[in-house]
Amino acid sequence: MTHKIAVLPGDGIGPEITEQALRVLTALGLDIETETQPVGGAAYAAHGHPLPPATLELAKNSSAILFGAVGDWKYDSLARELRPEQAILGLRKALGLFANLRPAILYPQLANASSLKPEVVAGLDILIVRELTGDIYFGQPRGVRTVEEGPFKGERQGFDTMHYAESEVRRIAHIAFQAAQKRSRKLCSVDKANVLETSQFWRDTVIDVAKEYSDVQLTHMYIDNAAMQLVRAPKEFDVVVTGNLFGDILSDEAAMLTGSIGMLPSASLNASNQGLYEPSHGSAPDIAGQNIANPLATILSAAMLLRYSLGATAEAKKIESAVEAVLEQGLRTADIYEPGTTRVSTSEMGDAVLKALK
Ligand code: IPM
Ligand code: MG
Repeated sequence: MTHKIAVLPGDGIGPEITEQALRVLTALGLDIETETQPVGGAAYAAHGHPLPPATLELAKNSSAILFGAVGDWKYDSLARELRPEQAILGLRKALGLFANLRPAILYPQLANASSLKPEVVAGLDILIVRELTGDIYFGQPRGVRTVEEGPFKGERQGFDTMHYAESEVRRIAHIAFQAAQKRSRKLCSVDKANVLETSQFWRDTVIDVAKEYSDVQLTHMYIDNAAMQLVRAPKEFDVVVTGNLFGDILSDEAAMLTGSIGMLPSASLNASNQGLYEPSHGSAPDIAGQNIANPLATILSAAMLLRYSLGATAEAKKIESAVEAVLEQGLRTADIYEPGTTRVSTSEMGDAVLKALK
């Protein structure tokens, strides 16, 4: 069966990094058909909308989406619904991509890249499981209104709504428990149950789901403490599950622990294993078009695509081993360069991974 892959390169460095990932993905001899469409600012420039109908249709009709990055300061003054970020939020919602897996791995070859002491982060391998289609990100109502009573009566007020339905919490909890079962059977659920009703409900629901996973050790932590513990002793964590907003923040923090956000892939999955795969880093418009960006996070996202949406585990491992091999050879793009290693361009890194595959 031919697998259809939607390629959405997006903005900034998106096109150059997806190009390299695509070379790797198509070099494995799998039965893959790809189609490319613009997304984000590039789509706004071409079609007047960050997620045009043709792009959305393609995404819906594909087994998986290889996504570059969206965003450029050029578009920051557009109305919110036309900004590049709306493309990624729209895709998450339209495809029901509720489960966001963000691994943070510190490769031994890059131990010096972290701003934390090597002994604190050496061997770090954690997985943030972030709920991606609920919470205050999508809660209604939201907007700006006039306050009707109280000390701020008559003033304008911005507001958003945080909520989680039981099934939303249950399904992401199942994903996290199952991920924990495949790793070291430790799961930490992060919330703000000391203050928020939504969080207390989240915690109670996760505790209920835990009854089905007696082999997994479940702990709970408040988000503020989790943010602190993540820099104090990150290796205490293994799998972390949390809501959309807290997950947005914690996953950036976890990524930075490795010092090399240019290395970190991510997967966003729905109930039928259709997935969107993107690097954890952004579009970096300041270095776009210079052939210096690190394509490895996108190449590793292609590996996640093979594993989760195509079930091609052996090929996924092949890509991951090839990436380790090029690091072992001392090849580094500018973001992870250190004296004594060899600085290479985006396309040279792609060449090296392709070569290591063979
Ligand atoms: C992310 C990003 C997005 C988010 C933005 C671009 C809407 O920060 O994927 O973490 O907040 O989810
Ligand atoms: Mg984010």
